[in-house]
Amino acid sequence: MAKKTIHDIEPTGKRVLVRVDFNVPIVEGKITDKTRLISSLPTIRYLVEKGAKVILCSHLGRPKGKPNPEYSLRPVAAAFCELLGKPVAFAPDCIGAEAEAAVGKLQEGDVLLLENLRFYAEEEKNDEGFSRALASLADLYVNDAFGTAHRAHASTVGVTKLLPAAAGLLLSKELEVLGGALDRPKQPFVAILGGAKVVDKIPVIENLLGKVDALLLGGGMAYTFLAADGFEIGKSLLDAERIPLAKKLLARARSSDLSLQLPQDVVVTPELKEEAPRKVVDRSEIPADWMGADIGPRTAKSFADQISRAQTVIWNGPMGVFEIPPLAEGTLAVAKALAASEAMTIVGGGDSAAALEQMGLADKMGHISTGGGASLEFLEGKTLPGVAALSDQ
Ligand code: 3PG
Repeated sequence: MAKKTIHDIEPTGKRVLVRVDFNVPIVEGKITDKTRLISSLPTIRYLVEKGAKVILCSHLGRPKGKPNPEYSLRPVAAAFCELLGKPVAFAPDCIGAEAEAAVGKLQEGDVLLLENLRFYAEEEKNDEGFSRALASLADLYVNDAFGTAHRAHASTVGVTKLLPAAAGLLLSKELEVLGGALDRPKQPFVAILGGAKVVDKIPVIENLLGKVDALLLGGGMAYTFLAADGFEIGKSLLDAERIPLAKKLLARARSSDLSLQLPQDVVVTPELKEEAPRKVVDRSEIPADWMGADIGPRTAKSFADQISRAQTVIWNGPMGVFEIPPLAEGTLAVAKALAASEAMTIVGGGDSAAALEQMGLADKMGHISTGGGASLEFLEGKTLPGVAALSDQ
């Protein structure tokens, strides 16, 4: 059933608790990627314009249920204030007297950010008492934290039992774009999967098998599939336990109309260092004491050709160790092919998004999901608890 959205509630003059995902990377006190903050602006501006009293709540990192200044959201409030172009108050606690006092001072159109929800272990336990304390701050609840929608926590699920609960604009857009690609893609529909962990991608591959026209596999996880196909992969990343499953998936894909492509050639190196030697070899010639660290140029060209013919493309996970510049060529080739494509291009996963930012191609994509784990679970076909919990229309 369709869920209530922000357009189905009347927020004027109301205290609205908005769950955002402000879990942003912070290095030496500086926010290194503000995408999640920028992406939440439409919902917050909408509520401000409607004259709501906006109470933002989020987690930051994994502080293990205890207050820890290292994980304080205070610097995020300052950065968000600049982006929003108006003051953002900060409450040094997310529940209790300090939070209540800060909420009490809000006028219509004001914005307040509460301190890190995960300073309480009760948040991740979806504790009822904690949910009550949080819900008592507000009259309405809006979930705009797509990145955390796969977590059944107090701020994503517990509070929905206590307040009318609607989806924010970012959450709605993510569901529309990702859901649209899975349910009614324009064809040809191509998926490119990479990244290191086979275990993360197997359920995605299983779900995409019946939907895509071509499945292109690269990144560290591709070596387990090459090993399952009988290739010697040297010191490349291997998930030996998952070889039987990889074999089954390859057989399933090959018995269907789907075009499944593993790397034909790879860039190999004896160690993952910028100055280490490297060479391009055929996948059948990976030296015993070297490892595959990127797709080779033949594979990159073939992937780019598939992308250029597609109408819908989903990309999740880099093709190689892109953080080391000489090993970023394959990922760059895929990113450039996506940038040049006329297709609806959808990018999920923090690493692919980071690669696009690094390469200056982020603004050429149709949609970059703000969810890492959440977008993966969505692509696996799972119901996200934070979405399921919202009020029905
Ligand atoms: C993310 O960055 O994927 C989300 O903010 C969720 O964070 P978590 O994996 O710590 O729950």
